[in-house]
Amino acid sequence: MVVDRETESHSLDVKGKAVAPFYQNLFRNAFPSLVPYTDVWFANGPHTRRRKQKRVEIKMTQSAASFAQNNAPRFVEELKALLRIPSISTDPERIADTRRAAEFVANELRRIGMENVRLIETSTPETAVAPSSGPAQIVPGRTGHPLVYADYLHAAPVNGKPATTVLLYGHYDVQPPDPLDEWKSPPFEPTERDGNIYARGAVDDKGQMWMHVKALESLFSANEGKLPVNVRVIVEGEEEVGGEGIAAFVREHPGQLAADVALVSDTEMFAPDLPTLCVGLRGMIYTEIEARGARTDLHSGMYGGAAPNPFVALAQIIARLKDDSGKILIPGFYDKVAKPSADELKAWKALPFDEEHYRETEVGSSVLTGEPGYSVLERTWARPTLEVHGMPGGFIGAGAKTVIPARALAKVSMRLVPDQTPAESFAQYKSYVESLCPAGITLDVRLIHAGDPIVVSTDNPYVRTATAAMHDVFKTDTVFIRSGGSIPIVGDFIRELHIPTLMMGFGLPDDNLHAPNEKFHLANFHRGIESIIRFLENVSAP
Ligand code: BES
Ligand code: MN
Ligand code: MN
Repeated sequence: MVVDRETESHSLDVKGKAVAPFYQNLFRNAFPSLVPYTDVWFANGPHTRRRKQKRVEIKMTQSAASFAQNNAPRFVEELKALLRIPSISTDPERIADTRRAAEFVANELRRIGMENVRLIETSTPETAVAPSSGPAQIVPGRTGHPLVYADYLHAAPVNGKPATTVLLYGHYDVQPPDPLDEWKSPPFEPTERDGNIYARGAVDDKGQMWMHVKALESLFSANEGKLPVNVRVIVEGEEEVGGEGIAAFVREHPGQLAADVALVSDTEMFAPDLPTLCVGLRGMIYTEIEARGARTDLHSGMYGGAAPNPFVALAQIIARLKDDSGKILIPGFYDKVAKPSADELKAWKALPFDEEHYRETEVGSSVLTGEPGYSVLERTWARPTLEVHGMPGGFIGAGAKTVIPARALAKVSMRLVPDQTPAESFAQYKSYVESLCPAGITLDVRLIHAGDPIVVSTDNPYVRTATAAMHDVFKTDTVFIRSGGSIPIVGDFIRELHIPTLMMGFGLPDDNLHAPNEKFHLANFHRGIESIIRFLENVSAP
């Protein structure tokens, strides 16, 4: 008897009673850590061979969903191996680790039966940027982290029509883990606690990307090594640093990602047990302002009173970017801001949202801030914002040093909403910042990366297939939300590939994305896999 990954055979005695599964379950319960190996062991072990003569054999293919359920512990163990790789895309020391994560994903895609699996090297070309005044600036090109590509493009036609092609997107890079001492278990030693898996990247996005891979494996297994739908997979390693590499790839080779619909699992559910489709993301421009004063660092006693201080200059500039109520003061910045539709605003009002609970459990501050006259959901989903992330430079060591630094830096980003554009918003910001420059200081206002704000339509059959798939799993209706976060490539999928994008994410609001103790609720990992399986099964039959 031959049992392979694709089918699970059961030996039946003459009365038709399944014998092997009984022992198999006994064994599985006694040795849960060996569960991944039981299929092979029982398939090849003496028990199923001994009475071969007297048995009839039937080959039972288990459904993709039950394959996923039966292999759930193994899926988690594999995810842990991926989470152990510190693929921090922003950290030059982690270039090799980041590539290792790409290879890990590629190897698994190859193992489960995907085709044309390869790493695609990325680089951003040298570009000329025209500033609002002065000569054009040259932004040097650089090599990036590789993309992982795979496809399966010969699904059987359905009712004489070619099978649907789904583009699956995820990212294998993660945010830096610091501050390290706030983690209860180390960020790259995945640890299970209370039904959650804790690690940097657990939910953003390794865990969610792994749901795609495991859904594909389950489908291959249930369909004799074939898929019921055409699939392309693209996984990037630079999402957390702006995704310039994948954006260039999509622009230059749109045909290589040609598909009918894109499925992205890199967003959140609105609340536990509430299946969610995210239909809008904010865009972003991430900038640096460099301020330079004296030629070199100076003794602050000898020169204080006569020399300009670039930190004070940055503080003065930043203080003028927003007023006390949180309104951004950049001239023209709000001109293109589109109001959400009345239907959308009404739907948001109906969502189960308790502002006090949110303040207390998610934000943990004494009050919530932001523009008056807008709800929290409007402020975080449909209004632009401006944040300061850090001001490197000067003396930040322990103790005191009396110095006037020669230069200082501020990292400032803005989240954009439809119909703002990164180019126009950056130009407005840059000329406003330059207009605020104090005497004796020179400024360099740089764009680090940018992404478009998007809102996707919910009026297409893919949305209905997705909500039906999640209904099967969660037994409740899907809510439609926007998110304040950004996934730069989604705009490119819409603009360059002209395809609808489904953002079907399974994170939770308290999963600590980008923060210490990031986690993924394991029940959602498994429900996510099952939802994706059902989506891919049904999207193939339009
Ligand atoms: N997965 C997030 C974006 C996200 C989070 C969307 C929660 C919806 C809900 C993504 O990995 C992310 O963090 N993106 C960055 C993009 C930036 C660096 C260009 C972000 O939003 O800061
Ligand atoms: Mn993400
Ligand atoms: Mn992220």
